[in-house]
Amino acid sequence: MRIGIGNDHAAIELKYEILDYLIEKGIEVVDYGIGEDEKIDYPLISETVSNAVVSKEVDYGIVICGTGVGVSISANKIKGIRACVCSEPYSAKLSKEHNDTNVLCFGSRVVGSELAKMIVDAWINAEFLGERHLRRVELIKKLEK
Ligand code: RB5
Repeated sequence: MRIGIGNDHAAIELKYEILDYLIEKGIEVVDYGIGEDEKIDYPLISETVSNAVVSKEVDYGIVICGTGVGVSISANKIKGIRACVCSEPYSAKLSKEHNDTNVLCFGSRVVGSELAKMIVDAWINAEFLGERHLRRVELIKKLEK
């Protein structure tokens, strides 16, 4: 699994913590985000990570801002992206199982790093369940047209 990660200036520290955490797990990570002393408007980083997912440069994306709201709204504007903002692991798990999310968002001002790791674990370990959920995801895709 190859994951693209991105962040705005509100989430630099948390981005690095999650990046290291994923690498420790043996997951390949591409860092599209910014580092110390840099600034970026959240729609731009969301766009970069989302496009990397759509073009299959990476399998999934994780985008972090202050609340997770701005990056999730932005990511969902990109055709082919199903992003969700999660503040707990249950929604993260079900977002993959039921909604086939391909971008996970959370907020550095909302969740601490340990909770963020639990959210990430729940999401990357979950799989889309298909069946009735496939029909619903197909209906979501129709909304993009
Ligand atoms: C940046 O201050 C903040 O607005 C951004 O990180 C995010 O929370 C937006 O949704």
